[in-house]
This record gives sequence, structure tokens and C-alpha cells, in this order.
Amino acid sequence: MSIVIRRSKIHAHGCYATQPISKGTRIVEYTGPRLTVKQADELYQDAPSTYLYGLSDGEHVIDGDNTAAFINHSCDPNCESDEIDGRVYILSIRDIRPGEELTYDYSLYDGELDDQAPCWCGAANCRGSMYSEEELAKREAQSKKKAARKKSSGGRKQS
Ligand SMILES: C[S@@+](CC[C@H](N)C(=O)[O-])C[C@H]1O[C@@H](n2cnc3c(N)ncnc32)[C@H](O)[C@@H]1O
Ligand SMILES: [Zn+2]
Repeated sequence: MSIVIRRSKIHAHGCYATQPISKGTRIVEYTGPRLTVKQADELYQDAPSTYLYGLSDGEHVIDGDNTAAFINHSCDPNCESDEIDGRVYILSIRDIRPGEELTYDYSLYDGELDDQAPCWCGAANCRGSMYSEEELAKREAQSKKKAARKKSSGGRKQS
């Protein structure tokens, strides 16, 4: 499949189609060494951006080493990621024209509470964050709870 890495309006570099891609095409595999979440946290704790893909077991990530690792997030994506037997593939979810940037929804879920993972995809339905809808709802509920606790304690720190 012909795809290239170029500068992106979304973030730094992105991945672009050089030929028409039909809906349902398996475009590229997200390859790279498998690390445990702990190893990745230690390796990349101060990195502003990483090429990590979280596997569904919740315990391992792929440290991306190919073109797929340059695919940016969008809240209105033209691709999706699909995990099959521990391997991850990027598939088109609609027809894609040559020159279009490939994107998928990262649906992040496991980050520091003070990290908003702001999204710059520019889509009309942008949710403002690369976190998933569910994660954002969870975070919203957590911060409401925290604010309520703070109010009921009169602002005093609780042990
Ligand atoms: C796997 S890299 C993607 C390639 C990256 N653009 C580059 O040139 O290195 C993932 C990182 O890209 C950035 N990124 C991707 N999509 C983004 C978006 N929609 N909004 C903001 N930052 C984004 C974030 O820093 C994220 O951690
Ligand atoms: Zn967005």
C-alpha cells in the first residue's frame, strides 16, 4: 500500500495516501517491539510524544517503528485500528483520496489525570481531547467528586 510521511496540520508529521484507498482495506500493520506498560513508562516518562500503541490486554504496548506510527489521531477519522491475535492493523473505514491524511481515533484511556491530551484534529465534532468519550466522562465524574469533597471539607485538605 502506498503511503508516505509528510508534515501535518494536525501535529508534526502525519501519514498520507498516495493512491486511492477503498473502504475496508488493510493499509498497514503497526509494527515494533512489545514492551510492558511499566517498561514504556520508565523509558518515556518525560517524552512529550510517543509512538506507543496500547494493546487490549492492558499490560503491553507496541513501540511503533514503521510508517503506521506516524498516523495522527482525529475525532472524525478515515481509518480504525484493529487488533488481531496481538497484532495491530490500520484499516480504512471509508474510501480515501490520494493526498488525504490517514487518521484513526486513538481513544486514549490510561493517562495522568492532569494530562488533557488536547486534540488539534480540527474536525467539526472534535471532542478537544484524544481521550475516548468514556474516559472523558470518567474524568469529568472524578473531578466533580473531587470538587464536592473539597467543598464539603470547607477547602481543608483531607487525609
Ligand atoms: C504516534 S505519534 C503520531 C506522529 C506525530 N505526529 C509525529 O510527527 O511524531 C502520536 C503523537 O502525535 C501527537 N498527535 C497525534 N494526533 C494528534 C492530534 N489530533 N492532536 C494533537 N496531537 C496529536 C501527540 O503528541 C501524540 O502523542
Ligand atoms: Zn479532535
